[in-house]
Amino acid sequence: MKKLFIVANWKSYKSTSDAHAWLLNLERSLAFIDLNDIEVVVCPSYTSLPSMKAYILQKNINIKLGAQDISPFDEGAYTGEVNGQQVKEVGEYSIIGHSERRKEFGENDALIYRKVEQAQATGITPIVCVQGDDTPIPQGVSIVAYEPIFAIGTGTPDTPEHSEGIASTIKTKNPFVKYVLYGGSVNPGDVKNFTAMPSIDGVLVGGASLDPEKFSQIIENA
Ligand code: PGA
Repeated sequence: MKKLFIVANWKSYKSTSDAHAWLLNLERSLAFIDLNDIEVVVCPSYTSLPSMKAYILQKNINIKLGAQDISPFDEGAYTGEVNGQQVKEVGEYSIIGHSERRKEFGENDALIYRKVEQAQATGITPIVCVQGDDTPIPQGVSIVAYEPIFAIGTGTPDTPEHSEGIASTIKTKNPFVKYVLYGGSVNPGDVKNFTAMPSIDGVLVGGASLDPEKFSQIIENA
């Protein structure tokens, strides 16, 4: 069976205590799910990462943590930024270049390249978001998420067939990309349609990941 990535992107939702309650709930469901060949990655706000990490280690829960961003700089006088070494203390992954960051924070390809460089330099695996198959992808990036803007938070996902075409083109153009995830209105009912596609290696889930029951169903159904 191919390896699948099921990634939760909580965006700017959930307090630390909400995050803890979510984790308790997911922990119960995961006990009944076979996680062989599935990498579950949860990306909460920075504020929730330390306590989630402590709980996951204490209970030996089979999920990984990631950040939703990373500084394009090493440590230094960059007010408000969280650098790669700091992310590394609490997570193994970082989402980079999400379309919300491009739209709301003016991020462009040049900035995204620098963020990817910082992730790679500090041993964090970047999950680079793109909206199609013509976005340049920095060398060495192994995980890309295809996230068409029309599908994000709208309840209208792209079709699995169209997403498959994009995923396969991304892999052909960028032979270093090993995994392409689909993101945009994924839910428990449609996740399998995407993961069944030969070039799609998992999903990046926003809205449906906030509910631990829906998220565990997505993992189970994938
Ligand atoms: P959505 O978000 O699942 O709520 O559509 C996906 C994303 O933005 O990563």
